[in-house]
Amino acid sequence: MYYNMDFNYFNPIENMYRVRSLMELLIEAMKDERHDRVKYGMMMEMTDDPTVKKQIKFAYDDEIKHYKMFNQIYTQLTGRKINIPLPTNIEKYDNLISAVQTSIDGELEAVELYREIHSMLKNPNMRDKLFEIITDEQEHATRFVYLYSMLK
Ligand SMILES: [Fe+2]
Ligand SMILES: [Fe+2]
Repeated sequence: MYYNMDFNYFNPIENMYRVRSLMELLIEAMKDERHDRVKYGMMMEMTDDPTVKKQIKFAYDDEIKHYKMFNQIYTQLTGRKINIPLPTNIEKYDNLISAVQTSIDGELEAVELYREIHSMLKNPNMRDKLFEIITDEQEHATRFVYLYSMLK
């Protein structure tokens, strides 16, 4: 289905810029989701402790779901399909705790970005999707804070 609800028919020039920047933010969001998926996979390999692994896996599983949701929104708004591949060379960490630390910041930055995307969407179904993603990222941040206190 193709949604036109985010267009202001009275000002095509303003639309051109607004819509383009929304698409840019959606692409940024998809890239972040891909990055985090790979990062959390790598982090799970850095521990043998099942309790630690489990905490990371919540986020690991959600990021693939989020990528699909953003991808769907992008296709509904543009009528185009897009595929952002998983990155192959992401930053490396000497220890799990430093990876956990940057993940807390990463999750909180994601909440900021997604709040911005949420404010640019008019379609209720798309806004609901963003709400779900934002609350998931807040949960990830909380889990990583818990993990940080467990590891230190
Ligand atoms: Fe996510
Ligand atoms: Fe996340």
